[in-house]
Amino acid sequence: MASYYYSKLQQLNHVLFWGFALLISACEKETHQDIYKPDGTLADIKELSAGQSTTFTFTSVAFDTPADWASEGPMYQRFLDGDGLYDTPRQYANGPYGGLGPLYVGFSCAGCHNNAGRSKSTLFTHGGSGNGHSVFLSFMRTPNDQYHRQYGRVLHDQAVFGYKPEGRLRVHYTEKEYEFPDGEKYSLQTPHYEVYDWYTPPIAAENLEMSVRTPLRHVGMGLMLAVDPREIKALEQQQYPEYGISGEINWVVERGVKQIGLSGHKAHHADLTVELGFLSDMGVTSTRYPEEIGYGQEQNKGDDPSIEISLKDLADVDYYLHTLGVPARRNVDDPQVQMGEKMFMQAKCHLCHTPTLHTRPEGVSLIDGTPLPWLGGQTIHPYTDYLVHDMGPELGDNFSQFNASGDEWRTAPLWGIGLQEVVNGHTDFLHDARARNYVEAIMWHGGEGDVSRQIFYNMTKEERDALVAFLRSL
Ligand code: HEC
Ligand code: HEC
Repeated sequence: MASYYYSKLQQLNHVLFWGFALLISACEKETHQDIYKPDGTLADIKELSAGQSTTFTFTSVAFDTPADWASEGPMYQRFLDGDGLYDTPRQYANGPYGGLGPLYVGFSCAGCHNNAGRSKSTLFTHGGSGNGHSVFLSFMRTPNDQYHRQYGRVLHDQAVFGYKPEGRLRVHYTEKEYEFPDGEKYSLQTPHYEVYDWYTPPIAAENLEMSVRTPLRHVGMGLMLAVDPREIKALEQQQYPEYGISGEINWVVERGVKQIGLSGHKAHHADLTVELGFLSDMGVTSTRYPEEIGYGQEQNKGDDPSIEISLKDLADVDYYLHTLGVPARRNVDDPQVQMGEKMFMQAKCHLCHTPTLHTRPEGVSLIDGTPLPWLGGQTIHPYTDYLVHDMGPELGDNFSQFNASGDEWRTAPLWGIGLQEVVNGHTDFLHDARARNYVEAIMWHGGEGDVSRQIFYNMTKEERDALVAFLRSL
């Protein structure tokens, strides 16, 4: 009986899924509109990563360019205002661009998300390197899900004069070499983290759960929030037992409401976390988070009760992130890239890195009520299902967030990935930047990604190179 109902349910899901898919493909023609490139020629539909939000700038500001519809008049001015708040280093003193600290991890959003991308992860191995601070966020808590009283949500490895940083993070890698069947070598480096220079007596390893994360590229943030939730639910229903793939929605509770998690490496946030970014990463307080970083710590003098960033400024940053364009695909007619796309399907990458999704007809409205209808009714190519998948213990961090377990991660969106090297000067991938190039990123796929990894492993060199060429065209 139970199995009868189960199979009926499965059928119903199937009908719902395909009914929905058909509905969407019927709409596809209607929503596609002619988009002209800056040189006046008509864009090829394959180039349009994000419908009318597709941009054609492929330089170091490829991720940091507004969509066409936000690039003039008052809308452009507001984009620039948000961008300014995003880029400008905060000062300790209160006032415009003030409020840094007393404890912090970075002094501007752009320090970690340089040019709206993924800054190179640098550590204090030599007394500070790169732009002077680490771009990793190290989440920490006790084994029973509490914050450590003398610490907070993340390890603050920076402090203003008169305060001590909470501690410093050190990483060392152990490296192992492997070989493809044709003899080509690749190597994988496993990170090992250690916190040192604790400002209190060190927290014993058995009392510390930690997850170290690298910043995410800001590609298609507005469109991500506009994705039709019915489509994500349908993708969750679509399981592939023959390949061991079964994605899950990470249901999160934010502002007291249960919602589909979309952002963050574990899809553990439903919005763009602008207020949290200002508070938790930089120590800048707002009316949503009025308590200074380090509140409750012995070293917090409680001498600065002021609100350090206005709701208007926060909304401008949120607006900036929503109006960023998505770079068009490049080299879509290159035979190697086309072969690579076939290899991508052959290796079942597309079962998680979903090539095509659609946004809700109405688009989104920002918290302050600003409607952004341009984000609505678009056919987009984010190469993710926004679901979390079990990627095996080797990628796991033993750090669950809502229903994403330690081994589960959100399928990384691949749109724009081919430009990370131009924008940020490196090809470090995965949640903790352990992979140094595309091949390493693929060869780390375990768990539900294992079948893909095996298929890739058994490809010829020509096929592997083609697949990477395809990724570089995204
Ligand atoms: C110290 C480095 C650092 C600073 C400073 C920082 N971020 Fe981040 N950001 C990260 C990391 C690391 C992640 C991934 C975290 C995770 O998985 O939870 C992230 C994730 C995000 C995401 C989610 C993106 C996605 O694709 O899901 C957004 C949006 C974001 N940051 C915006 C901001 C804004 C706005 C600011 C400034 C107020 C900011 N960040 C400051 C490191 C930083
Ligand atoms: C079972 C689902 C699944 C399959 C199948 C899959 N991936 Fe992934 N992929 C993920 C997840 C989840 C992540 C994020 C893992 C992490 O951050 O540790 C990811 C990360 C990546 C990244 C790193 C992106 C970044 O910005 O850091 C690349 C590149 C990638 N995948 C390519 C591929 C390719 C190519 C294939 C096919 C050979 C493939 N993936 C198959 C789920 C999948």
